[in-house]
Amino acid sequence: MAQLWGGRFTKQTDEAVKAFNDSIGFDKRLYREDITGSIAHARMLGKQGVIPQEDADAIIKELGKILEDVEKGALVIGPGYEDIHSFVEAVLTERIGDAGKRLHTGRSRNDQVALDMKLYTRRKTQEISADLRELLQVILSVMEKNTHTYMPGFTHLQKAQPTTLAHYIGAYFEMFLRDCSRMKDCAGRMNTCPLGSGALAGTTYPLDREMVAKELGFDGPTRNSMDSVSDRDYLLELLSALSITMMHLSRFSEELILWNSNEYRFVEMDDAYSTGSSIMPQKKNPDICELVRGKTGRVYGDLVSLLTVMKGLPLAYNKDMQEDKEPAFDAIDTAQSCIRLFTGMLASLRFRTDVMRLSAMRGFTNATDAADYLVGKGVPFRDAHGLIGRLVLYCIDKGCAIDELTLEELQQISPVFEEDVFDAISLETCVEKRLTIGAPGSAAMEKVIDTYRELLNNM
Ligand code: ARG
Repeated sequence: MAQLWGGRFTKQTDEAVKAFNDSIGFDKRLYREDITGSIAHARMLGKQGVIPQEDADAIIKELGKILEDVEKGALVIGPGYEDIHSFVEAVLTERIGDAGKRLHTGRSRNDQVALDMKLYTRRKTQEISADLRELLQVILSVMEKNTHTYMPGFTHLQKAQPTTLAHYIGAYFEMFLRDCSRMKDCAGRMNTCPLGSGALAGTTYPLDREMVAKELGFDGPTRNSMDSVSDRDYLLELLSALSITMMHLSRFSEELILWNSNEYRFVEMDDAYSTGSSIMPQKKNPDICELVRGKTGRVYGDLVSLLTVMKGLPLAYNKDMQEDKEPAFDAIDTAQSCIRLFTGMLASLRFRTDVMRLSAMRGFTNATDAADYLVGKGVPFRDAHGLIGRLVLYCIDKGCAIDELTLEELQQISPVFEEDVFDAISLETCVEKRLTIGAPGSAAMEKVIDTYRELLNNM
């Protein structure tokens, strides 16, 4: 296949060099963006009189057909071409002759590929935002049903204070909501059009960069042509945002793996989202969660790869930058499939609310409330803390919960205990009295849920 730059060369490229250099194998997925960008460029060249209008018209028409042909499989993006840009130009020229050869006037593959990647990233950012919105919707519906589902909250993975399932997974709602806003931020910041920057120093043709930017839905053209062709910040931002999302998914996965274990039994995974063992017939494994947790490392790796590629690169374009694509595509594909699979898995999860409740009643999750009860009776908090500590020791010894002791036993620790202590440290009271903003009490939680509902409706 003829190269775009053959004129200066007297020898064929070495086969191994060609294979090493070509990017068609992975940049072919940019065909839609490449063609869309070329159509905008051709339209502008025609309007500015840089190329004859009839050539511009022929190019635009044929590029439309090429896109159609690729999409319906009539035209296969085969190997042999150097990259997607060479492929599109070669097919175009083959089909319409000289007019096709005029398309690249006032353009370099450097601004072309920068444009393609921005268009692609922008589209994917929108898709991922929609995927995250779906996930938020599923989390919200679990929350709505579980404002009174009591369960233990943990610190150091030890039972700490009681909370509700709505409150617990509401924490993940907040995380994924921040992820959505990070997607929006990076889509907003990257939305300037590099086309017209040429190889690095703009061009002498009277290009209308505003026109192209507008046609392609950008806020405007980029302002420095050197930066335009060598900026990969938007990919790094996206990959860091995706890494954070993966970190959140991984934490949630770890949580569900624990909850699904024989020891916790807080959840039951749907058969459709679990797999079995080839040897142990009793097994039903939480593979989706484990894979999501595992793939998190892969997305971090993509981010670090790209950061390392960019580190120390002088201005402007360097071929190193071709190495942006595989990690970027891999991170996008991986994160997107993880969000989607995780959402389906979560939607089909069964929560064992009875087991959660029992667990909350064990493990002294009401010890803080027992101390607070004494504080209410005038005992200084530090003393109350010490007294309840002794009470806990007594209970451990006896093998019971604080609220299973008799009033007499309680009074042996402190005479200020009265009959009302039992109500004060019941699981219901412990949760429902926590009414500060952001706390699990159902009255506080309902307000937060209303806010979430509204946020989702406006997203
Ligand atoms: N395949 C190249 C890339 O992905 C396109 C840009 C080529 N530019 C060049 N000056 N060789 O970066």
